[in-house]
Amino acid sequence: MHPDIGLELGARVARAVQEALEVRISPAEALVRPSARADYQCNAAMGLGKRLGRPPREIAELIVAHLDAADMVEPPEVAGPGFVNFTLRAEWLSARAADLLTDPRCGVRPADQPRRYVVDYGGPNVAKEMHVGHLRSSVIGDAIARMLDFAGHEVIRRNHLGDWGTPFGMLIEHLASLDAGAELSIGDLNGFYQEARKKFDADPEFASRARTRVVALQSGDPATLALWRGLVEESERHFAKVYEQLGVLLSADDSYGESFYNPMLADTVAELEAKGLTEVSDGAVCVFPPGFTNRDGERLPLIVRKSDGGYMYASTDLAAVRYWTQERGATDLVYVVGTPQSQHFQMVFRTASAMGWLDASHRAVHVNFGSVLGEDGKMLRTRAGGSIKLADLLTEAVERADGVRAVGIGAVKYADLSSDRQKDYVFAWDKMLAKEGNTSVYLQYAVARVSAVMAQAKVSTVDGSVLVTHKAERALLVKLLQLPAALAAALEDFAPHRLCSYLYETAVAFSSFYENCPILKAEPDLRESRLALAQLTSRVLTKGLDLLGIEAPVRL
Ligand code: ARG
Repeated sequence: MHPDIGLELGARVARAVQEALEVRISPAEALVRPSARADYQCNAAMGLGKRLGRPPREIAELIVAHLDAADMVEPPEVAGPGFVNFTLRAEWLSARAADLLTDPRCGVRPADQPRRYVVDYGGPNVAKEMHVGHLRSSVIGDAIARMLDFAGHEVIRRNHLGDWGTPFGMLIEHLASLDAGAELSIGDLNGFYQEARKKFDADPEFASRARTRVVALQSGDPATLALWRGLVEESERHFAKVYEQLGVLLSADDSYGESFYNPMLADTVAELEAKGLTEVSDGAVCVFPPGFTNRDGERLPLIVRKSDGGYMYASTDLAAVRYWTQERGATDLVYVVGTPQSQHFQMVFRTASAMGWLDASHRAVHVNFGSVLGEDGKMLRTRAGGSIKLADLLTEAVERADGVRAVGIGAVKYADLSSDRQKDYVFAWDKMLAKEGNTSVYLQYAVARVSAVMAQAKVSTVDGSVLVTHKAERALLVKLLQLPAALAAALEDFAPHRLCSYLYETAVAFSSFYENCPILKAEPDLRESRLALAQLTSRVLTKGLDLLGIEAPVRL
């Protein structure tokens, strides 16, 4: 029995098709999906009709005649041009509900073939405060890591900190010029950066010292490294605070900043050269991956070493692909980074494939995302036009939720996760904190309502059997059995919004159940049954929110 009902029915349809038509299709190709017309609907007859040159309705009838699923569904109906509608049997649903009641994994089975995923997310830059631009990568990446982990895969969280490169010359030089004992504090990171920048632009003597510092840093000068480490540590303390505020599971142990790959850059470039992938262009060592050109049709370079010997963002990303696939046995590299870097990643992946670092069993995917917009439709900024500090945004969220952290932070995260990541979305407090609609607050209320009902009933857990006596009960139970399918769909495209939609539909089904089916006043068997359904709802919603990194308090 497959945990995904659609695939289980699909497997049976596939067998019927094989028997009746001698055609092989997979359970997924049987296209059995949840439907508004019935519990599930099969659309395979249309495609098969075309393929075999026969009327789809006739094929649908044949599928029904050969189907072996009487344990699971009522006699199926053929509708319209050739749909097959399935209604799950009440007894079957009750038996599945009983399984679900004793299953801490809410029906989700761990992957048969676990993979080793490396999820690159977060990626803030040292000596700069995190701003709203870091929200999406942190929130989406964390949800993806949590979902993969729960699905039974090995997950390595990887925070690609911007902690290396030329700006560190001026930052370290500025730090060195401050009074000894002057503490660099988290709140001052931005001011510190700006002061360094100002000096660099205004004072040629400072600028030249800053350049010397870069060389000192790269050659491992101990005093310079110590100053650099101070900057990194102070920044990490700031990042840790924001991650904690946000409920994102990144810690300093997950930091694999650009500096981490520094010792591997020379070898990486040497391998690219040995493979004949490089060309020298204007003194710089470049790779020109095929298929990337600018508007004038000129080939686009991936610069891997500048003429002065310095390395680039792309050099580090190539070294990282090589490291994670060749030395750490990663099977999947997932990059949760904004859409503007799409071309960069496509070029890196293409080059890594040419090197053999990526292949059929070492995959890489850019999980891109759009921007966060203000209500004016432009990039979200402060009134004064500056970038919004993430810490300030999160503090405001909790304030707006009357101090309830789970609600405020949950609302910000859910608003981000519930929209299709590829699109931009508008950051609107009122909408994300609304009690109705596809919001975390609505889901959290459903969970809190179940706790209230359980408290009134004076029970903490229920293990009675679930009866299906009302269509609202049936609709809710069918939804509760679909978490495995929803999780699989969300992971297929790294699309957390699919899980959100599922949770929202489940909460809507619960509301309808709650309005239509009295719980505490029902006669004893039904009362037990409805309490069990309510409890299952709470478990599924709580688990789903947890996979998104959102808490569901028992009381609101
Ligand atoms: N620090 C980078 C930025 O701010 C993001 C890093 C993304 N990850 C990567 N492997 N390039 O744009």
